[in-house]
Amino acid sequence: MKLANCRILLTGASGGIGQALAHALAKQGATLILQGRNEATLKQLQNALPNAEKHTLWVADLCDPAALAEPKGFLCQQQQIDILINNAGTNHFAWLEDHSEQQITQQLSLNIQAPILLTQALLPYINRPGIIMNIGSSFGSIGYAGYSVYCASKFALRGFSEALSRELTGSGINVLYFAPRATQTALNSDAVYAMNKELGTQSDSAEFVAKEAIIALNKEIKRRWLGWPERFFIKLNALFPGVVDKALAKQRHIIARHAKASLAKEDPQ
Ligand SMILES: NC(=O)c1ccc[n+]([C@@H]2O[C@H](COP(=O)([O-])OP(=O)(O)OC[C@H]3O[C@@H](n4cnc5c(N)ncnc54)[C@H](OP(=O)(O)O)[C@@H]3O)[C@@H](O)[C@H]2O)c1
Repeated sequence: MKLANCRILLTGASGGIGQALAHALAKQGATLILQGRNEATLKQLQNALPNAEKHTLWVADLCDPAALAEPKGFLCQQQQIDILINNAGTNHFAWLEDHSEQQITQQLSLNIQAPILLTQALLPYINRPGIIMNIGSSFGSIGYAGYSVYCASKFALRGFSEALSRELTGSGINVLYFAPRATQTALNSDAVYAMNKELGTQSDSAEFVAKEAIIALNKEIKRRWLGWPERFFIKLNALFPGVVDKALAKQRHIIARHAKASLAKEDPQ
């Protein structure tokens, strides 16, 4: 889809990937509805975008189900959107036993419940042709120690995207699943950066991820995973999970050390 003059609702616009995406989309001539919880950050972003005045803000906590109905108030027949990008997300790097109930529900609520409810609420307000892009993760295809809850939410988002895509075949709305690998944003704690360094895990800049997302939107690529060797391991995991079990078992003690270090930082008692 050509993005010039498209109206796009972008959740998580104030975050690392969100801000890079907002800049890349605005450069293409799109008109944006920028969602986040912090109005000041969103305003600053809006002012930095080309044609700042044509973009609007939606300040909302997407973990509040009542907030998910709000766009119905500012979208209408004449002011529909062409693209919904479900990008807002959160993670908590820790062994399952070290997650609080709130950390579990926050990840499930923002990463999977919110995209489902928002998509359902907005389906009548998306033009045809239109696009729904769900931002997944490599961890939506590979279960990784320290990320059990995050993986659960991103596996679910991938399943939701695939099923909805098949459900909407022929409707004029194309559902895309776009999965970055580790990306240099504030989503990842210092412990995660240290672990990735020790394991030699490569990461991308948010600008690179945004550039690839624009390509996926332009070409309407249904499923896109970023990064090598991540793409290889995703295929290997789907076909021979036991091989990946063995490879990841070798990293487990390193992952555990960083997860516990992260916990000690959170709760120094
Ligand atoms: N960074 C990575 O390594 C990586 C890798 C693969 C996939 N991803 C995925 O990429 C997406 C963007 O991640 P990122 O790295 O850009 O993360 P980020 O920098 O932490 O940004 C997260 C965004 O989500 C918003 N958000 C958080 N909690 C919210 C809530 N309760 N209600 C509404 N908005 C909320 C934040 O807005 P506030 O300003 O309100 O906090 C922010 O805009 C996520 O879905 C993530 O899972 C990231």
